[in-house]
Amino acid sequence: MTFLDKFPTANLTNLPTPLEPMIGLAEELNHAALYIKRDDLTSKDYGGNKVRKLDFLLADVQAKGYKEVITFGYAGSNHCTATAVHSKKLGLNCTLVLLPQIPSYYLKYNLLTSLSFGAKFIYAKNKPLAYLKVAGHFLRTFIKRGKLPYRIEPGGSMPVGVIGFIKAVAELKEQIDKQGIPVPDRIYVPCSSMGTVIGLAIGIQLMGLTSKVHAIKVVDDEYSNDKVIKDLYDNTLQFVRKKAPEIPDLSFTDIPLVVRREFYSGTYAQSTDLSKQAVALAMKKQGIPLENTYSAQALGALVDDVRNKKVEGQSLLYWNTFNSADLSIFVADQDYMDLPKDLHGYFA
Ligand SMILES: Cc1ncc(COP(=O)(O)O)c(C=O)c1O
Repeated sequence: MTFLDKFPTANLTNLPTPLEPMIGLAEELNHAALYIKRDDLTSKDYGGNKVRKLDFLLADVQAKGYKEVITFGYAGSNHCTATAVHSKKLGLNCTLVLLPQIPSYYLKYNLLTSLSFGAKFIYAKNKPLAYLKVAGHFLRTFIKRGKLPYRIEPGGSMPVGVIGFIKAVAELKEQIDKQGIPVPDRIYVPCSSMGTVIGLAIGIQLMGLTSKVHAIKVVDDEYSNDKVIKDLYDNTLQFVRKKAPEIPDLSFTDIPLVVRREFYSGTYAQSTDLSKQAVALAMKKQGIPLENTYSAQALGALVDDVRNKKVEGQSLLYWNTFNSADLSIFVADQDYMDLPKDLHGYFA
């Protein structure tokens, strides 16, 4: 029994996810200690990093008796898709509030997946309009059901969700010990709403590992600035401490987190030369599909660090955050005309 057992889950995950050497890529880059944490396999229904957060978030939704969740993201958001899929599994209604994004294949795929899992959509051209539409939705839901929807913050990055990644470090530590793998010097992870990397950083502090999280930023500073990081760190520890006062005091000044801003193109969801190379390398050398917005940006950063001899002799762990469950049978049945009209443009 650890303090983590005090926080219920909704049993969405298939854990532990494998921790494996990346043999093909290690050969290609001539860097011996390269490992991958296969969080693409967190669930066979829809995997990726978001499921670790949703496991705790949706348990909270159930414990508090909510019947509907509402969450936020760009059109085609992986977080929104994961929320749609896993809410449906638990019999919860799900509303997705979406903002415009650069069109791509996976955007369409995620919209159709969410549609097939019964999500409702609110699409707005900008944030002020989104706030207005959400206010209307809240009012209508309250009048109809006498209860507001449970609000999951963008990316699921709120304290109860972040616990999923504190727990992920306990899982990693156990695997390192069992498999005789060196403690990674660096863990490469893409970051936007920051919950994944902050959970990992807190977990590393609590479990006493020496690793540093290299958070590869893929969004504007608005979402991943120093204040967001500090607030989420403090609020998560405060939240955990309420139920688990036995956890030691931690200091934000020692947070094992390095935010790497230099790989960001300046436009969300824009591929870069490095991310394109990473997509190709991951498929060719490891047989793993990545996408350009998140997962390939983090692998691209790792590859760049190795090639520029910044990490000689170090053990590197790449945390794969992108779902690899194939949902194409669900997508095949869907007609984009069943989406709200404003979203049809992505399919033109
Ligand atoms: C595939 C993938 N990786 C990483 C992230 C970033 O995680 P976080 O929002 O916790 O920073 C996301 C967020 O949507 C994602 O979809």
